[in-house]
Amino acid sequence: MVFRPMVFRRSLRHSRSHAGEGNRSVPVSKEKYREAMARLGAAVNVITTDGPGGRAGFTASAVCSVTDTPPTLLVCANRGNDSYPALKANGVLCVNTLTGAHEALSPLFAGLTDHTMEARFDTGDWHALATGAPVLRDAAVAFDCRIDQVVEVGTHDVFFCVVEAVQAGPVHEGLIYFARGYHRIAPIG
Ligand SMILES: Cc1cc2nc3c(=O)[nH]c(=O)nc-3n(C[C@H](O)[C@H](O)[C@H](O)COP(=O)(O)O)c2cc1C
Repeated sequence: MVFRPMVFRRSLRHSRSHAGEGNRSVPVSKEKYREAMARLGAAVNVITTDGPGGRAGFTASAVCSVTDTPPTLLVCANRGNDSYPALKANGVLCVNTLTGAHEALSPLFAGLTDHTMEARFDTGDWHALATGAPVLRDAAVAFDCRIDQVVEVGTHDVFFCVVEAVQAGPVHEGLIYFARGYHRIAPIG
């Protein structure tokens, strides 16, 4: 297998990965991949946005730090999400990392209840920092970001986001999604 690194220039704002396209055989099925990923525990986040495209939010575990220079993280979003058009139109998002006390927000923002998009925000205490994206006041941590680059990969867009403000209050009990269930983790000490 030939590994081809993807090189970004500052001017490149939107690109598409061609991995897995065409007639190449896929050695691991979608089902096997999803089963394997269920063993990979991850923090639970609500990704929010607001602006000309409207207010929206969805639950995401595919969030990762890219670099601290400049402070940048990535978020992977399914282009079929109801929040996706607003994310693209607004160009800003906030990563709200949930605490143990916020577990009910996860299915709410994952579209697993019958709430409308706007009604999702009736739960939780929301305010704004730098970009105008909704920030959960008592989140474990919140990263208020401007979307800098977008890479299409299969069904998802990878948003590379520059962090414009951080909200980090006291250390709370954390929330992890692992083996298709929620787990609370206590801070040491
Ligand atoms: C724990 C958890 C993690 C999720 N992680 C992601 C993710 O990283 N990216 C994504 O696009 N969807 C993720 N989803 C699914 C979306 O939250 C959900 O499919 C989507 O928002 C559908 O609801 P909506 O379109 O009504 O907003 C996750 C769902 C759950 C419950």
